[in-house]
Amino acid sequence: MSEPAIDLRDVRFRWRDDAPWVIDGCSFAVGRAEAVFLAGPSGSGKSTLLALLAGIAIPTQGEVRVLGRPLGAMSGAARDRLRADRIGVIFQLFNLLPYLSVVENVTLPCLFSPARRAAAAARGGAPAEARRLLDRLGLGDAELQRRKVGELSVGQQQRVAAARALIGAPAMVLADEPTSALDAELRIEFVELLLRECAAAESAVVFVSHDRSLAARFARRLEMPNLARAAA
Ligand SMILES: Nc1ncnc2c1ncn2[C@@H]1O[C@H](COP(=O)(O)OP(=O)(O)OP(=O)(O)O)[C@@H](O)[C@H]1O
Ligand SMILES: [Mg+2]
Repeated sequence: MSEPAIDLRDVRFRWRDDAPWVIDGCSFAVGRAEAVFLAGPSGSGKSTLLALLAGIAIPTQGEVRVLGRPLGAMSGAARDRLRADRIGVIFQLFNLLPYLSVVENVTLPCLFSPARRAAAAARGGAPAEARRLLDRLGLGDAELQRRKVGELSVGQQQRVAAARALIGAPAMVLADEPTSALDAELRIEFVELLLRECAAAESAVVFVSHDRSLAARFARRLEMPNLARAAA
């Protein structure tokens, strides 16, 4: 039996010594290939929790294990490696490179990670896999795919960020409000596509959203701030 994708034990986190606890006694596990919907009010710590899961922040107390690895005990370089190889992240603010083309942005993880490159190669190569994912996300137009990302609408950029997270079949996908710029119909399509791609790759998913109409599509739903409190 492999370890769960995510295993948090008594985690506490604050951004600075003099700041309040954002996460104050959080314990939960997410299985491999499990899809979780995470909701909660603004400022309740959803993005902070994703930062802990991505190894961008490390717990002040307690243990965060991701894909069998104890993130708090690893060096920054080792966490960067794990993230590049095995975690697809859709950031709340996208983090796309505006001067690169759409396809170049999507294939970026394959440049930094031999593991993601090999996984994409097994599916026809990074550019072809990028075009397939973009096409599935409604961005199949060849002219659009050659454009610089900075010339796209916000909703289009959000879908480019999703394709970039999915390329190379990472073991875990973290998505922070990935549908906020999409209209209602596109949101549902987007979530279904994301869940289908993740199921096909057996990737675990943590999907943060304010939009509760999407929650029913997930096998499991978690709620802040309850999740982040010891008494939960
Ligand atoms: N980089 C940071 N440095 C210091 N404090 C931070 C940082 N990021 C978030 N915080 C603080 O941590 C708390 C939780 O913020 P977080 O961004 O995790 O909330 P959220 O649930 O994602 O909210 P939203 O729904 O608005 O995105 C807030 O009080 C916020 O001010
Ligand atoms: Mg947030």
